[in-house]
Amino acid sequence: MQQKILYGGDYYPEQWLKYPDILAQDVEYMKEAGINTVTLGVFAWSMLEPEEGRYEFGWLRGIMDRLYESGISVILATPSGARPKWLSDRYPEVLRVREDGRRNLFGGRHNHCYTSPVYREKVRAIDMALAREFGSHPAVILWHISNELGGECHCPLCQQAFRDWLKKQYRDIEELNDCWCTTFWSHRYQSFEQIEAPSSLGEKAVHGLNLDWKRFVTAQTADFASEEIRAVREGGGSQPATMNLMYDYSGLDYDELAKQMDTVSWDSYPLWHKQEDIRTAMDNGMQHDFMRSLKKKPFLLMESCPSATNWQGVSKLKKPGMLAAASLQALAHGSDSVLYFQIRQSRGSSEKLHGAVIDHYGGRDTRVFQEVKSLGGSLKKLGEIAGSRTKAEAAVIYDVQNRWALEDSQGPRNKGMHLHEAAMKSYQALKKLGMNVDVISQSQPLEGYRFVAAPILYLFRDGMEEKIRRFVEAGGCFVLTYWSGISDRWDRCFLGGTPYGLTDVFGIRRTETDALYDQEENRMVSDGQLLPKGEYVCRNLCDLLELKGAEPILRYGDDFYAGSPAATVHAFGAGKAVYVGADGEQRLYDELYARLAAEAGVETLTAGAVPEGIEVCSRCSEKAEYVFVQNYRNEPADIRSLDLKGEILYGGSQNELGPYETLIVRRQKSTR
Ligand code: GAL
Repeated sequence: MQQKILYGGDYYPEQWLKYPDILAQDVEYMKEAGINTVTLGVFAWSMLEPEEGRYEFGWLRGIMDRLYESGISVILATPSGARPKWLSDRYPEVLRVREDGRRNLFGGRHNHCYTSPVYREKVRAIDMALAREFGSHPAVILWHISNELGGECHCPLCQQAFRDWLKKQYRDIEELNDCWCTTFWSHRYQSFEQIEAPSSLGEKAVHGLNLDWKRFVTAQTADFASEEIRAVREGGGSQPATMNLMYDYSGLDYDELAKQMDTVSWDSYPLWHKQEDIRTAMDNGMQHDFMRSLKKKPFLLMESCPSATNWQGVSKLKKPGMLAAASLQALAHGSDSVLYFQIRQSRGSSEKLHGAVIDHYGGRDTRVFQEVKSLGGSLKKLGEIAGSRTKAEAAVIYDVQNRWALEDSQGPRNKGMHLHEAAMKSYQALKKLGMNVDVISQSQPLEGYRFVAAPILYLFRDGMEEKIRRFVEAGGCFVLTYWSGISDRWDRCFLGGTPYGLTDVFGIRRTETDALYDQEENRMVSDGQLLPKGEYVCRNLCDLLELKGAEPILRYGDDFYAGSPAATVHAFGAGKAVYVGADGEQRLYDELYARLAAEAGVETLTAGAVPEGIEVCSRCSEKAEYVFVQNYRNEPADIRSLDLKGEILYGGSQNELGPYETLIVRRQKSTR
């Protein structure tokens, strides 16, 4: 799209139309800070269409022209994330209905029905009008569809659309009854017309219904968004389109949304300085990698906070250097932008105390502005990185449909299955080895990876067991953990032994699963064969395993199953299938993956070990590889162990990094 890193963020000039001096000054400040892109129009509907059918685009054109003259591009948003009062007064059906059947009052945002034909028609009209007016404006580089799509509506229109969607998924009602196991508790349906969305006032215990409802909500949201894109295109807006996604959001299957857009973008608000920053960086890094893996190409950091947010429990300031570290982390993981929420802080309402590039004081002699400006200067010199790709030979499967089923199911641990934490353990273990890691869903291919870890893959869908079999057969190393391969697409338990379809591949069968109380622990003991002699603490869940050809590499230390296998390895085809039977501590994954990933031949980005508190990533262009090394400690770090060679593009030295400092080295591409 561009050979520059997009730098800037959300800007709300409509809140400042009565302050022309401020508007003029803002653009000057933007130029000074190196800002080259702003997002306009998010939530501007009531100013763009103050009365039904009467558009007022003059103010937006004036601002857009001025930005363009100043060399600043525009990401233009469709305003459907919040609607004007006249719209819901005249057409109350556009407001969302809750699961108890009550319709919301006007207010807030994300408070609309995705199904409502009236809402869709009104959105289409404003989107087309915007595209007609601004589709050929030279400032506009990207369309930003709505804002953080999410939530669900239970109105009669949505209920009917759900039934219609179900009719397309199933041959007849009998097939649906079978898939949902509705004979249990006499919940059988005689016709599709009887089906209602899950609700705590009614049916919530049919897990197949719950899963299909979430799939429907995703399909309906994706359809709503694709109609918006169509309206923009028909109006003459031919620029690429994006939707801004959210951190670890489980309300929608983002795979489906990603199919509708040209570029993925997301909003990142990590809680820096709450715990060790390297842990926060790993957690945020996993989200960056998830977003990049949706399309396996560069994404955009659409929102981030230049100082402190105001919606988190505690609004902590970023320590000096943290802003640059967090922003460059996005680049390191494959973003082509650093965009903020927001350029100027609003005066009133709920976000008046949210951090911004320009605060209420209004000057540029602030710490935040100066840091933003300094980063702007640096990014200008890093344009060649834009568009470069991330090559990962290792992947972690983190699948939202699996999460839906796992968290909805009753047992074996209603006090928490800790899927996110389990995924993090695998992810961190690989990152500590200095590798690029993709974070993928079950619907993505496994070809091209050498090592794949699937923590708690409870639900198998779309032939997952066959995919895993083929991957191992062809020479890959696959790690599956406890409580995997238990249920199918409708959360129906598989018959005939688990992990389903893979007992020969892994050389084991899970016979039982013990759930541990929060305060309980067991031990996984190594006799020194594959892992060093010693033991690892495990918690939460312990699978009991029957060996069917696999070698045990760990055995339980306690309880009635002490001495029985706790983790196994099995050679299958040209590859290796490893089963980790319990929720082991981080050190287990660190030591196990170090060994397995090396044996599988996964390339590390640096020659030597990655020191504590450091993160390493890389991106490749046609000509070069860019290696990012980041120090997430508030003290200097010795990085000589990395033995990093190449030309320094950003940062001071290959030997030491200052607190929160980043080093970017350009080197020749690896030929592999
Ligand atoms: C995002 C949202 C923005 C703004 C921001 C505050 O989730 O898209 O509009 O509210 O949070 O951090």
